[in-house]
Amino acid sequence: MVTWAVAAATSAGLALCAADGVVAGGSRTVTPKGVEAEEPLPFDPAPPIGPALARVAALTALGRKLFDDPALSASGRMACASCHDPAHGFGPPDAAPVRLGGPNLDQPGTRAVPSLAYSQFSPFFDEHHYEEDDEADGGLDAGPTGGRTWDGRVNRGREQASLPLLSPREMANPDAASVVAKVAAAEYAGDFRKLYGEGIFADPAAAFAAIDESLETYQEYPPEFAPFSSKYDAFLLGRAQLTEQERRGLAAFNDPARGNCAVCHVSRLSARGALPLFTDFGFVALAVPRNKAIPANADPAYFDLGLCGPERRDFAKRKEYCGKFKTPSLRNVALRPVFFHNGVVTNLRDAVAFYAKTERQYDDLPAEYRSNVNREPPFDRGPGDAPALTEQEITDVTAFLKTLTDGFSETPSPVTVTGAGADHLDSTRRGLQ
Ligand code: HEC
Ligand code: HEC
Repeated sequence: MVTWAVAAATSAGLALCAADGVVAGGSRTVTPKGVEAEEPLPFDPAPPIGPALARVAALTALGRKLFDDPALSASGRMACASCHDPAHGFGPPDAAPVRLGGPNLDQPGTRAVPSLAYSQFSPFFDEHHYEEDDEADGGLDAGPTGGRTWDGRVNRGREQASLPLLSPREMANPDAASVVAKVAAAEYAGDFRKLYGEGIFADPAAAFAAIDESLETYQEYPPEFAPFSSKYDAFLLGRAQLTEQERRGLAAFNDPARGNCAVCHVSRLSARGALPLFTDFGFVALAVPRNKAIPANADPAYFDLGLCGPERRDFAKRKEYCGKFKTPSLRNVALRPVFFHNGVVTNLRDAVAFYAKTERQYDDLPAEYRSNVNREPPFDRGPGDAPALTEQEITDVTAFLKTLTDGFSETPSPVTVTGAGADHLDSTRRGLQ
């Protein structure tokens, strides 16, 4: 139960250079007192581990306080948790398509709040992604993959944390120094000094980086952000049975001729036995209908085109990317009150039914980009064809998706998280053998 902390320690940039090797090796176990290795390690593991674990635990506790603190916003009323609600998989708290932020909480965003649970496993953005452990895609360029946000323009949690803190539509602080001043005045300022040194607040750049680091560390804390404790996890580990309906839903979800969902929302154990994340982090244009409830959409000339802008700028001229958004994980999807990048759907069954439509509504994608829209099953049907999923199958898939909600069982143990990447988790060895 402590190996996560070692991985978190490495991702928090601590001096544990060999810890990745320890975790990836799989056969070694890490204990708070040190590392018990089958073969001698090229360093003395005992001294750094204990303090490093304590530091990660302290960073996590501090990061949680920062995440929950509305005082860090210009309005004084908006925390990270206001938009990323722990009760909803760290997704939005209600069915409003976008949140209102800014100093007076009256500035609307343009995108639905993504769920943060499991998002730590997104690999860094890569325009040409090659699958490592995939029989189907081996050696093929899967195209743009990874990164954080709906358009992948950020890679690490620590970079991401600065965005909402400074965005005029979100927490709306004028600059990093004003965020630092708020932390210096907070009840937990002492915790902060203890971790980063008495003089930390005198150096606003270093203090801001420290805020980002502790927010990131908290967001990588497995019991809250990656517990792998859903009914489906228990099923894969042989510790629970799915109902008839859930099994039918899973079959339709996986079937290449019906839902074909798993081609993007990966549902099987990896070749190395890692539990699936229900995303391949790829970018796809689905032509989700326009959401008229988003104020920015009142302007008929405004289009959110994902990878090619407007938030992301580097691919502004890449027409072949327009309309593409990152495939979200479906873990905890039943806790989401809104679905898709623009929150146009507010009911899980309707989100599934979107995939069974034979007629697409292209009202949120300029005609010149329509050829970017995916045509693989279930999107290979046209008017007059039988839909990819029957009404019963839509209901069954919806029932299956509800098995992806965490909290069904204990977090599988031992969990060894190796940080970003496809083979992030190696919790299944015991359960599968
Ligand atoms: C006003 C609502 C709001 C607040 C407050 C907010 N976020 Fe977000 N967050 C969003 C939205 C919307 C996105 C998606 C942005 C996009 O796709 O362009 C997002 C995306 C993210 C992501 C990327 C998830 C992924 O991997 O795709 C992370 C991480 C994140 N936020 C962390 C935070 C942290 C940490 C805080 C507090 C410092 C915070 N957010 C505050 C609305 C919010
Ligand atoms: C070709 C890849 C692909 C396939 C196949 C696919 N999806 Fe998706 N899915 C995506 C992408 C990309 C998004 C986000 C699109 C957007 O917001 O514009 C998404 C979003 C979703 C969402 C909303 C999640 C959220 O956080 O808002 C649900 C639910 C969903 N998919 C379920 C399914 C189901 C069920 C199937 C099979 C019937 C399926 N998907 C098939 C790529 C795919």
